Amino acid sequence: MTATFFQDIVQQFVLSKEQVQNIINGLTEELVEGLSTNDPKNITQQPSFITRLPTGKETGLYLAIDMGGTNLRTAAVHLLGDGQVGVTMEKHEITQELKTGTGEAMFDWIADCTAALLKTVALDMGNAELQMGVTFSFAIQQTAINRGKVLAMGKGFNLSDVMGKDLKDLLEDGFTRKGLNVKVSAIINDTVGTLVSHAYVSPSTKIGVILATGTNAAYIERASEVSKYNGPPCDQMILNTEWDAMGKASYLPQTKYDKQIDAVSLVPGFQEFEKMISGLYLGELVRLALVDLIEQNAIFEFLGGKVPESLSHRLAFKTLFMSTIESDHTPDHTSVDKVFKTSFGIEGLTSQDRTRVYELVHAVGKRSALMTAAACVALLYKANGASVQLDDPNEITTIGIDGSVFEKYPHFSHSMMESMTEILGQERASRIRLELARDGGCIGAALVAMVAHNGGAV
Ligand code: GLC
Repeated sequence: MTATFFQDIVQQFVLSKEQVQNIINGLTEELVEGLSTNDPKNITQQPSFITRLPTGKETGLYLAIDMGGTNLRTAAVHLLGDGQVGVTMEKHEITQELKTGTGEAMFDWIADCTAALLKTVALDMGNAELQMGVTFSFAIQQTAINRGKVLAMGKGFNLSDVMGKDLKDLLEDGFTRKGLNVKVSAIINDTVGTLVSHAYVSPSTKIGVILATGTNAAYIERASEVSKYNGPPCDQMILNTEWDAMGKASYLPQTKYDKQIDAVSLVPGFQEFEKMISGLYLGELVRLALVDLIEQNAIFEFLGGKVPESLSHRLAFKTLFMSTIESDHTPDHTSVDKVFKTSFGIEGLTSQDRTRVYELVHAVGKRSALMTAAACVALLYKANGASVQLDDPNEITTIGIDGSVFEKYPHFSHSMMESMTEILGQERASRIRLELARDGGCIGAALVAMVAHNGGAV
C-alpha cells in the first residue's frame, strides 16, 4: 500500500515520450509567436540589439557587473585579444532585505560594491568616465543595447519603484549618488552573456543557456524573422528567449507539487517552466513530496505520520542536498542518513527509507535534465537552417551552459545528452556539444560593452 503510494508519487516525475514531445511543440510555437508579439502570456523573445559575436580579437579595460538571483558580481575585465581575458572579480550576496526593499537602496548598494571593486584593483582614473557592461539575470524589455525597461522580477525579488523604469538610468543614478563616473554602455541578459563569452573561446557556440537559481536561453535568429524588432537594420541578432516563462498553453507536465510551488510564489502563474527545473525549486519539490510521503506513512514510518518542524519550512530542503545524495554511489545511500541527521535532526532511517529518498531525488533531478534537453531541442529546431545546421555532417553546434545545476548536479550533462540523443537521433546528436560556460556574466557584459562602446554592435 505504502509502496504503491510511493511509486505513484515518483512516477509523476517520470515523463512519457508524448509529454516530452508536447514540451518541444509548445516551446517551438511560443518561440515563433514571440518574434511578432510582446504579449506577456507568451515567452518574450527579447531582441538584444547585439548583431554579431565577438571575434576574439577585442581588447581594452571594461567594468562589468552581473546581477543574479543570489549574488552580485563586480569585475574589472581586461580583454587581451586572442580569446584571452584578465579578470578581477568580487562576489557579494544579495540579502533578503535588499531583494524586497526599495530600488534606491538596491542601486545604492550596487554602486557601493562597484566602488569597493575600484579600490581593490586600485583603479584611479581621476574624473575619467569608466564604461560598464551589465549582465542582468531578469527580464527586461530592451530598447537599445544599453537601455531596457525592467519587467516583472522572479527569484524572490520584489523591489519597489523599479518596474517599467530604464535600467541604465536606475544604475547611473546610483553611481552619481555615490560620486562614481561610470556609464552603462551595454545591458545584456545573463544568457546573452553566456552565448557571447562562450563564443569568444569556442566559436561554434550558437546557444547560451543558464541553469542556476533560474533558467533561460539565448540564441541567434535571422533578423528578418523578428517582425517586432524596429531598431537599426541588421542580418541577425541574439534573442533572449526568456524560456523560463514558457508553458502558456499548460503543456507543461506539472505535478501537484509544481502547482503548490507556483501558488505560494511571489508571482503565481509566472515562470512555471523555471519553477519545475531550476536550482531554486528542485529541492523544494523534493521537500513537498517528502511531506506528503511522511504524512501517508510511506516513508520515515518511525515519525508516525508527523512532519518534523525542521522539514516544514518552505525551501528548507536545498538543491545542494540532492547533489550530495546523487553523488553518493554506495549501495545503501549512506549520504541520505547524513543529510537528514545534520540538516534536519532526523535519525533512524531504514534502508528502504534511504532508497526511497534516493529514488525521489533522482526522479526530480532527471526530469529537470530531460525538460532542459527538450527545450534545447526546440531551440535547435528553431535555429536550424539559419545559425544552426543540424544536418550538415561538418557542422558542430555548441551549447554553452552556465549555472550551478548544470555544473554541480551529478550526471546532469550526461542525462541531458542522453535525452537529446533519444530525441534528435544518434547522428544529429553526435554533432552537438554541451559545454560548461563559466562566469559568462561579467566577461560577456564587458565584451558587449566594448563592442557597443566602439559603435560595433548596433
Ligand atoms: C530568470 C530571468 C531570466 C534569466 C534567468 C536565468 O528566468 O527571468 O532573465 O536569464 O532567470 O538567470
